[in-house]
Amino acid sequence: MKYGYFDDRNREYVITQPDTPLPWINYLGCQAYFGIISNTAGGYSFYRDARLRRITRYRYNNAPFDLGGRYLYVRDDASGEFWSPSWQPTRQQLENYSCRHGLGYTTIGSRYQGIEASTRYFVPLDENLEIWQLTVTNDRPQAAELCIFSLIEFCLWDAQDDSTNFQRNFNIGEVEVENGVIYHKTEYRERRDHFSFFACSEPLAGFDTQRDTFLGPYRGWENPIVIARGQSCNSIAHGWAPIGSHHIKVALEPGESRQIVFVLGYQENVREEKFDPPNSQVINKKKAKCTLSRYLTSANADAAFEKLRAYWDDLLGICQVETPDVHTNRMVNIWNAYQCMATFNMSRSASFYESGIGRGLGFRDSNQDLLGFVHMVPERARERILDLASTQLPTGGAYHQYQPLTKRGNNDIGGGFNDDPHWLILGVAAYLKETGDWGILDERVPYDNQPGSETPLYEHLQRSFCYTLQRLGPHGLPLIGRADWNDCLNLNCFSDSPGQSFQTTTNKDGKVAESVFIAGLFVLAGCELAEITRHRGRTAEAHSYLAEVAKMKETIRKHGWDGEWFLRAYDDFGRKIGSKECPEGKIFIETQGFCTLAGIGLEHGSAAQALESTRKLLATKHGIVLHQPAYTRYYLEYGEISSYPPGYKENAGIFCHNNPWVIIGETRVGNGDAAHDYYIRINPSAREGISDLHRCEPYVYAQMIAGRDAPTHGEAKNSWLTGTAAWNYYAITQWILGIRAGYDGLVFEPVVPRAWRGFRATRKFRGVTYNITVDRAGPGNQVTLEVDGSAVSGSVVPPPPHGTKTVAVQVTLQ
Ligand code: GLC
Ligand code: GLC
Repeated sequence: MKYGYFDDRNREYVITQPDTPLPWINYLGCQAYFGIISNTAGGYSFYRDARLRRITRYRYNNAPFDLGGRYLYVRDDASGEFWSPSWQPTRQQLENYSCRHGLGYTTIGSRYQGIEASTRYFVPLDENLEIWQLTVTNDRPQAAELCIFSLIEFCLWDAQDDSTNFQRNFNIGEVEVENGVIYHKTEYRERRDHFSFFACSEPLAGFDTQRDTFLGPYRGWENPIVIARGQSCNSIAHGWAPIGSHHIKVALEPGESRQIVFVLGYQENVREEKFDPPNSQVINKKKAKCTLSRYLTSANADAAFEKLRAYWDDLLGICQVETPDVHTNRMVNIWNAYQCMATFNMSRSASFYESGIGRGLGFRDSNQDLLGFVHMVPERARERILDLASTQLPTGGAYHQYQPLTKRGNNDIGGGFNDDPHWLILGVAAYLKETGDWGILDERVPYDNQPGSETPLYEHLQRSFCYTLQRLGPHGLPLIGRADWNDCLNLNCFSDSPGQSFQTTTNKDGKVAESVFIAGLFVLAGCELAEITRHRGRTAEAHSYLAEVAKMKETIRKHGWDGEWFLRAYDDFGRKIGSKECPEGKIFIETQGFCTLAGIGLEHGSAAQALESTRKLLATKHGIVLHQPAYTRYYLEYGEISSYPPGYKENAGIFCHNNPWVIIGETRVGNGDAAHDYYIRINPSAREGISDLHRCEPYVYAQMIAGRDAPTHGEAKNSWLTGTAAWNYYAITQWILGIRAGYDGLVFEPVVPRAWRGFRATRKFRGVTYNITVDRAGPGNQVTLEVDGSAVSGSVVPPPPHGTKTVAVQVTLQ
């Protein structure tokens, strides 16, 4: 069953029924001010850091979990009836409900007893505020006397403290109300130099800022006393729970429409100018007032919205494709690219599954996110790379996470995840291929943010590579440390106390357990590093990297191959993991995917064999599971992986993040049918028809789909913030469609299904627009190229002469 439909022309997903299986959300904002908004207007806002600068409150683990948000109530003064046009929180039966999630905006509207009300929510570019544009229309044959009430609940800034420290927090809430604008200033009297404001374009009939006055005792959001009575109380919050609510009277003739604009914003002042007059306790509102005068008119709000539309047109215009498959087109052209922006911005911090008070930006995660983002805003990718590299440790290892506000490594988690440093090489390689900006390698970057420790970024990459060489185990394979890509394969943990962190507890010295996955990653990163080094003219150094790569490949052949597939690891006792000898966990996806995508075993057939085993043992119709058989009990020596019930998360769930590794592996052996088939199995748009089972949004990837051992096989969880976004985007655009950024130009090596007669694409690359036509002349993947009508040998189109704006590329597959 479906709960809506794709409107591809408008780049929107339209939800037509408010009670979706789970809240289906969207993100507002793409620079510094962010919001999460569900299909019933639930969700919260924050400035830069979801934990430390939370603007509106969110109650964790609520039922439903999008309760609390950006609410409006409409009240019919004649009857006293009231409802919410976004369905929540009153949940009246509405007519014509629709929620249009678009790129950086959401519009929710409905009709109730002849009154249409629709609100567009968005964050204008380059501003720290959100706009709600409400349009109310009277479709009744007679005049209507209505009241509109707005509602948000302020968070006392630190979201963690806000939801626990009540003995203090019930005393500190403070607001100011001036000319109908509600200013939230908790802790502004002391060390905070920021406040928020909530304003409305219309003259007010009243306002409220104290939650309990607004709701009344023992009444919830669905039935506030102020709205039942039809009159605000002009309450001023002193402690307890500050809210923002405006009361507006609207009289509408039959057919008449009115627009009302609300603005919720965040403002910082320099410390010396916090108060006005200077020695008072009154907020200096100059800047906020100036911003408000700009956005509280419909015309200016419309103009800001058009700018946002144009911004996304440009971003998406960088890569557009027209293939025979609608799900491919829709995800590549709109939603997958859009999700890559969200994962780049948020890493794994704030969604309805990531609390915004836990993880910061992951070193491993953020480097991988670059794969799907770097072509959109390369300048921001560059900044991110330098920030990440600044948290690298002098050993070449890395802090596993850093905080976005301070950009410092997170000491609570620390380092010791032995795959981490290699992702930096892959992130930088992706950036170099896309931009050709070799200068980034000369940027001087510190280690652990210590002034004085700066070296060129290039040396960071060298240290990343050497980190593994200095940490090889008994078989010559890389030691795993706390974990590799699979955060839950904790081979040195041996935890037997409930609640201990599997990621940070280590009870073993870590000198035995080895990871075949890191070996595969090392091979790929080593090849990239050698290319980069060759470009810098250091041939001997490049050779030394390739020699290490060859040695590691040989070690994998000897100690990382199980006969029909790649092994996964060796545990602390030196026993195999992911082998036919194991009673459970005989075969794992990570090494089959990563080794084949790195090209390991291509020449002697083991790559093809590993993929064959994957198809036989791991593939399901909902995607490829992590391993088989699932672990049915807790293994002290394996850690968190065996803590999950079979079929969920890292214990044999379908981790959508690494399905594209197998997809790329299939393209490397030339199997376009298999590659695209796997791609479609987890493609959210292709799963729209089974929304009752899938449950998560059909327009974005989820981290996980329950595996075949789970009672809810096919059910998705943890949508939005997952490496799945970048990896699938990368797999479909650069490997299946085969339009790949290379160091020396754009590469064309499509490996598409045999049934496709071809496809078209536009790709902007290093300032040039490539108009691409791919035609199939035979069943294979052999490429012949014509560039602007002339034949070019090989599969790389070198950069055209300076000043060239467009290039026509004709690709023929034989
Ligand atoms: C989560 C983590 C990621 C890890 C993956 C597998 O998605 O964010 O870093 O690789 O789980 O454990
Ligand atoms: C938990 C999750 C895993 C995630 C990790 C991050 O172990 O199960 O997916 O990568 O936390 O610390």
